Amino acid sequence: MSRKRIVAGNWKMNMTPAETVAFIAKLKPEVDGAETDVVMCVPAIDIVPAITASRGTNIVIGAQNMHYEESGAYTGEISPSMLVDAGVKCVILGHSERREYNHETDDMLNKKLKKAFEHGLTPILCCGETLKQREMDITGDFIRMQLKSDLAGISEIDVQNMVIAYEPIWAIGTGETATAEQAEEVCGLIRNCIEEMYDEDTAEMVRIIYGGSVNAGNAAQLFSQPDIDGGLIGGASLKPEFAKIVNC
Ligand code: PGA
Repeated sequence: MSRKRIVAGNWKMNMTPAETVAFIAKLKPEVDGAETDVVMCVPAIDIVPAITASRGTNIVIGAQNMHYEESGAYTGEISPSMLVDAGVKCVILGHSERREYNHETDDMLNKKLKKAFEHGLTPILCCGETLKQREMDITGDFIRMQLKSDLAGISEIDVQNMVIAYEPIWAIGTGETATAEQAEEVCGLIRNCIEEMYDEDTAEMVRIIYGGSVNAGNAAQLFSQPDIDGGLIGGASLKPEFAKIVNC
């Protein structure tokens, strides 16, 4: 069974609406005909201009977060139906920066994942260990715990259609990338965990990507690992380098 690769950008809190339109216009011809799925997860205010600018192209626009309620008194939040109505197809959930700075818990993420599936959005669920956890040799245990809590009660069909991003926290924005062997080891462990929780078919179908200081120089080696189906790209997704990563 072959899984289609996916390269997703995560702009984090970068790019104004005007910069978004200019960036997408430049990116379009560079990724036209790419063999991978190309996704750009943009700040909420950039979603509508990004969707307009990418219409008719192979660039899919994603969000970086959403709430698990349909509507209501949640100042500053965005609902799944708002994303769908705007034309968003996928959403990053559980990025370590949101887990840390916005106190997102696995319980909240479980609710968000269920809502995303209900609305036909493809979640990119992030998981990954801190440097301390790696040094204590509990990376595997910690990631298993994250996956078991986040995916509780979610069907195998939904898991088959989602993306799981392995993002070691110590490698995010630090310039320090996990080696291809380290990344493959944990992505393989994630696939085994999915097989244990579901079945072999589900483990074969779910796309598992790596994120953490991916750049045009290291992407090809990372993406050539058997259990790594692409990448979640932070800093390099803000540069023309992103197209090189897509086409690597
Ligand atoms: P980075 O970020 O590529 O800048 O390390 C990755 C991410 O946080 O998704």
